[in-house]
Amino acid sequence: MRNQFFSKGKKFSVGDPMTDALWDSFLPQNFQTLSPFQWTPISVIERTWNFLSHDGVTSLVDLGSGVGKFCIYLSLLSHHSIDILGLEDREELVNVSESLKEHWEVTKVQFRKVNFLNQFPKGHSHYYCFNPLYETMKGSHSIDSNKIKSASQFLKDLQILKQNLLLMKPKSKLITFHGFGGNFLPGFRIILKEEISGGEYLIWERE
Ligand SMILES: C[S@@+](CC[C@H](N)C(=O)[O-])C[C@H]1O[C@@H](n2cnc3c(N)ncnc32)[C@H](O)[C@@H]1O
Repeated sequence: MRNQFFSKGKKFSVGDPMTDALWDSFLPQNFQTLSPFQWTPISVIERTWNFLSHDGVTSLVDLGSGVGKFCIYLSLLSHHSIDILGLEDREELVNVSESLKEHWEVTKVQFRKVNFLNQFPKGHSHYYCFNPLYETMKGSHSIDSNKIKSASQFLKDLQILKQNLLLMKPKSKLITFHGFGGNFLPGFRIILKEEISGGEYLIWERE
């Protein structure tokens, strides 16, 4: 993996300009190409930290953490002040995340190879997802061809996810970018709705 940022002898400090192009330049080429479709834009992560820093965040889980872009850059923005957990069921992506974690020197981020539909992480103050179930519905820009594309599987997974989200503690928040897969989330109310980087950005509070 290239390391152009550190090879210049410079480390990232909060306040230094960060762009998607710079972040993505540390990814293997195939994952750079997928970035506009699969990994959260820098502007969305910065908006998220702007919200979290005023919202008593203690720990956050990314449900479907991909190459770790959201978790790692959020940790840098937070000055490593919160525990961040990334759950991802593709081993290759967890391996890339671990490598980037070392690269960016973030110690408060953990990645686990977990299917969050089977093992839902309870007790955190905040959760994030960038439409992780959508890939079972879509034909283009897939990460790989390992998962079946099936509308009925999508609906089954969505039902499980909705049931799992009810396990979140009262007043905890779910942040969604491009949605969670459905329109209505029983047991939650929307407290913020914006459009960022061409995607719908919502914050839901567990009632
Ligand atoms: C759109 S990507 C978002 C990645 C990352 N959260 C980000 O914003 O950069 C969705 C990710 O969810 C993962 N995913 C989908 N279903 C999953 C499941 N049931 N358990 C764990 N990971 C899952 C996919 O492999 C993919 O990496």
